[in-house]
Parts: sequence; C-alpha cells; structure tokens
Amino acid sequence: MSLFITFEGVEGSGKTTQMEMLKEHLEWKGFHVVSTREPGGTELGEKIRGVLLNMEGQTIAPWSELLLYEVCRAQLVSEVIKPALLDKKIVLCDRFADSTIVYQGCVRGLNLEAIASLNEWVSQGVMPTITFIIDCQPEIGLKRALARIDTRPNGNKEDRFERENIEFHKRIRDGYLQLAKESPDRIKVINGNRDIPVIHKEICGILDTKFEAMGEK
Ligand code: TMP
Repeated sequence: MSLFITFEGVEGSGKTTQMEMLKEHLEWKGFHVVSTREPGGTELGEKIRGVLLNMEGQTIAPWSELLLYEVCRAQLVSEVIKPALLDKKIVLCDRFADSTIVYQGCVRGLNLEAIASLNEWVSQGVMPTITFIIDCQPEIGLKRALARIDTRPNGNKEDRFERENIEFHKRIRDGYLQLAKESPDRIKVINGNRDIPVIHKEICGILDTKFEAMGEK
C-alpha cells in the first residue's frame, strides 16, 4: 500500500521524534517505510540544506530562498518520494509543501498563489494523504530546539530560523493552524505539549482508523 504522510510544526515541536517513532511502529506492523526530510533527503537537497540553514552573516532574497526550497523538493519528489510510492511503500516526510506556504508565504509574505503554483509544479502531482501538525507553544519549542544545539555536529550553532524572534515563531504557528482549518480532512493538529508516548499513541490511533477505512490491517 502506498501512502504519503508528512509532519509539520514549529521549531522544536517534536515532529522529528514522532516521525521516527511512527516509522518503527509501521515497520513493526509489516509495512515498507521510507522516511526522509525537507529540505534535504537527496545529495543535492542536503547540500542546499546546508546553505539555507547556515548562512553566516549573509542575506538571502526571499524569492531566492523560496526557489532553493523548491529545488530541494523537486529533487526529493523525483529521486525518493515518487519511486517509493510507485513501489507501494509508505513515505514519511519531515516537512513538505505546507512549510513553504507557512514560512515563505504567511510569514515572509511572498505571493501565496505563486508559492502554491510552484509547489504544484515541483511536486508532480504528489500530495500528502495525511499531514500531522505537531502543535506546541513556540516558547516551548524554541527552548527545546536551543537545548539540543550542543548535540549538533556543526559547531553548536543556532540555525538561521532559530535566531528569529518569538513573534516570527508565533506567526509560523498561526499559519499552520490556519492551514489546518482550510484542509481539515488532510491536516490533523496534534497537541505537542504532552508526553512523547501520549502523542505517539494518538498518531497511531488516527492512522489505524485510516487503515481500516482503506481496508488495510
Ligand atoms: P528542520 O528540518 O530542522 O525543521 O529545519 C528546516 C527549516 O527550514 C525550518 O526552520 C523551516 C524551514 N523551511 C522553510 O522555511 N521552507 C520550507 O519549504 C521548508 C521545507 C523548510
């Protein structure tokens, strides 16, 4: 069975942890699972990720930034996501097109129609079936993100988005909640302020219901 599931949220929301736990759970259930991330997930995408997240002292024009994210997505869809779905696998992706709508559209203020159109072109018809927004207070998320900085291999630096102020992160959260209102069937908002196992259980429950509806185990 092929299924495309994405995880979204503010910095430090816990989405990556939840995605990893879900991967293990789905594999335990016998599914073939591919997990990946944006920006990144391909050789080209990981190189561009390094540029996007660590632009020490440099500025980047908002449209240039948008296009770099779209390059990563185009490559990831062609090289990883589409082949895996054709191979009847479940694909889990840490961020996808919703991130671009929220970060570059709602927050940076770029034209939403242009972003939607670019997203559609580069995604080549691939759309998530389910998106989990791990929703948490930006203050809590940022605290978590900053606390794990010293575990990073790149010299303990905050990335460019973690350096933005709290207002920026609040707008990200509001952007996600607005998107969820617009697509309630696809986007599930999960309260990320709770314990990790509790959140995991809720996500598994939502998917089990989905599998039943699809006639799967
Ligand atoms: P993360 O993978 O650690 O969450 O970091 C990725 C960062 O990139 C995060 O701050 C959100 C940002 N981002 C965008 O601004 N636009 C996008 O389209 C994507 C995929 C990510």
